[in-house]
Amino acid sequence: MASASAPAKVILFGEHAVVYGQPAIAVPISSLRVTADVQSTTLPGGGVRLIAADLDVQFTTADGSDPRYEALLLTLRLASQAMEMALPDLEITLHSDIPIASGLGSGAAVAAAIARALGMATGKPFDNATLNALVFEVEKIHHGTPSGIDNTVIVYEKPVYFVRDAPIAVVSIARPFTLLNADTGQRALTRDAVGDVRKLYEAHPERVGAMMRAIGAIARRARESIETGDIQGLGGLMNENQQFLSQLTVSSLELDRLIRAANDAGALGAKLSGGGRGGNMIALVRQEAVEAVSAALYDAGAARVVSTVVGSEN
Ligand code: PMV
Repeated sequence: MASASAPAKVILFGEHAVVYGQPAIAVPISSLRVTADVQSTTLPGGGVRLIAADLDVQFTTADGSDPRYEALLLTLRLASQAMEMALPDLEITLHSDIPIASGLGSGAAVAAAIARALGMATGKPFDNATLNALVFEVEKIHHGTPSGIDNTVIVYEKPVYFVRDAPIAVVSIARPFTLLNADTGQRALTRDAVGDVRKLYEAHPERVGAMMRAIGAIARRARESIETGDIQGLGGLMNENQQFLSQLTVSSLELDRLIRAANDAGALGAKLSGGGRGGNMIALVRQEAVEAVSAALYDAGAARVVSTVVGSEN
């Protein structure tokens, strides 16, 4: 009947500082996706039935509200409101290759794919601006006070230079570059890390404010490096950004270990990506170093390493 999808994402620069109005850069990972397929159903009055084998989800809206499915139910409710129609009886099957709770934007991609597919199936497709606002509302369940960077990069599927409440700016990638994204295997809630940074900011506004501005300056220089193809310079900026993230207390022993291992094995730079305290790190690597750095990351305890070439499909 209809099918739609949305990609994973990775934040390259500026996480946390972006919450305070500084710029951040994020890119989609188009090779990792959530796909939603919508079928009509033979069960009239059954509402929407959602099946997501990869995410261990199976429910119908007619079953009422289960807190585990809060984000999915909110997605459906917001989509129905935006389409100005009651939800029809439908079956939605989700397939995802994005690991959940790992900082790759699985939640936002699921919401984007479902709403997009529903809009198409009912003949009322969403434009990206409407979809972006919808997914932002759903992100609040996962993140509390999200900056909006995750939904924006996932909905528009473009490398973005994101400033809160500013029009979306797309970063043009002069030379594709390879990133390794490694999962520490350590789960951490972005909302806790964001909350702790808020406390630190409130306790030391001048010092922490200066760090935020320094991270913003790094993101601006990183945009220039990406747009001029200065990959070496980009690696150095990742290392600089990581220093400030450590000072903001959002790194962790596991992240530090992976970052050190990547740099020792020949990465051009490495940093945590996303909320921190666990979750993901990224390393910028030359193509010929991919294998050595991947192996070093696994040796240092990475639970999973994904390699992606940024800019090849944009
Ligand atoms: O944990 P992630 O990958 O969704 O990234 C969070 C990024 C933060 O800047 C820490 C928070 C935000 O809402 O921008």
